[in-house]
Amino acid sequence: MSKTLLVTGASKGIGLETVRRFVAGDDPPAKAILVARPSAEYSEALKELASVSSSTEIVSYELDLADRDAVLDLVRTIASDHGNVDLLVNNAGYTKPVPIQQIDFADFERTMAVNVYAPFTFVQELLHQGNHFELIVNIASTAGINGRSGWLTYSASKAAVINMSEVMREELAIYGTRVVCISPGRTATALRRVLAPDEDPSTIMQPGDVATVIEMLASPVGRFVDSANLVVRQ
Ligand SMILES: NC(=O)c1ccc[n+]([C@@H]2O[C@H](COP(=O)([O-])OP(=O)(O)OC[C@H]3O[C@@H](n4cnc5c(N)ncnc54)[C@H](OP(=O)(O)O)[C@@H]3O)[C@@H](O)[C@H]2O)c1
Repeated sequence: MSKTLLVTGASKGIGLETVRRFVAGDDPPAKAILVARPSAEYSEALKELASVSSSTEIVSYELDLADRDAVLDLVRTIASDHGNVDLLVNNAGYTKPVPIQQIDFADFERTMAVNVYAPFTFVQELLHQGNHFELIVNIASTAGINGRSGWLTYSASKAAVINMSEVMREELAIYGTRVVCISPGRTATALRRVLAPDEDPSTIMQPGDVATVIEMLASPVGRFVDSANLVVRQ
C-alpha cells in the first residue's frame, strides 16, 4: 500500500493496536504517522514498531491535542513534510467521569477539545491543505448513543463525534472520501479503567478487537460497509 496512515492517540490501547495491525498486515502503509503526548509507554511503543515494521516508515509526533494552535501547526507540518494523508483514524480520547455537581467547566472544555475539536481540526485543516482522504474513521463510543450517569462530559463529546461524523460523511462523499464513525463498547484499556476501575478487563473486548474492525474498513471489503455509526461491542 503506497499510502499514509495517521492515527491519533497511538501510544496505547486501540490506537496502538490499530497501528500494529496495519504495519503487520498484508498490505502495510508506506508511512504511519502517530500522535500522542510524550510518555515512556509511547517511547516503548515506537521502539517496538520500528523493530517490526520493515516496509512502513514510522513517524511520530508528541502533542497535547487539547492545544488547538499546536494541532493546527502539527497538521500544517504533516501536510508539508509528508504529503497526502490517505487514512485518518481520529482515535485519541479523554475522560474524567464525575457527577454533574463536580464538573469543572475547564475540564468539560478539555474533553470537547480532545474528543471533538481535535478530530474536526485534523479534517478541516488537512482539507485546507488540499488533502484528499480515502477514509476517515472517527472513534466515538456507545456512551455517545446513550448517556451514562456520571459521564456527562464524555457522553456529550461522543454524541457530538457521532453527529459530526455524519455531516463529514455526507459532505465529503463527493470527493470519494468514506467517513465511518465507530462506537466501541467496553474495551480493556487505560481509559476504560478510568470509567470502570473495578471491572475485570479479561471479561470485556480487547483493543485488538476494535483495531481489527478499523483494519477491515481500510481493506477492499471495507468499502461495502455502509454505516454512519458502526457499533462494535461484545
Ligand atoms: N476503552 C473503551 O471502553 C472505549 C469505549 C468506547 C470508545 N472508546 C474510545 O476509544 C478511543 C481510544 O481510547 P482507548 O480506550 O484505546 O484508551 P487509551 O488506551 O487510554 O488510549 C487513549 C489514547 O488517547 C491519547 N490521548 C488522550 N488525551 C490526549 C491528549 N490530550 N493529547 C494527545 N493524545 C491524547 C492517549 O495518549 P497519551 O495519554 O499517551 O497522550 C492514548 O494514546 C477513545 O476515543 C475512547 O474514547 C474507548
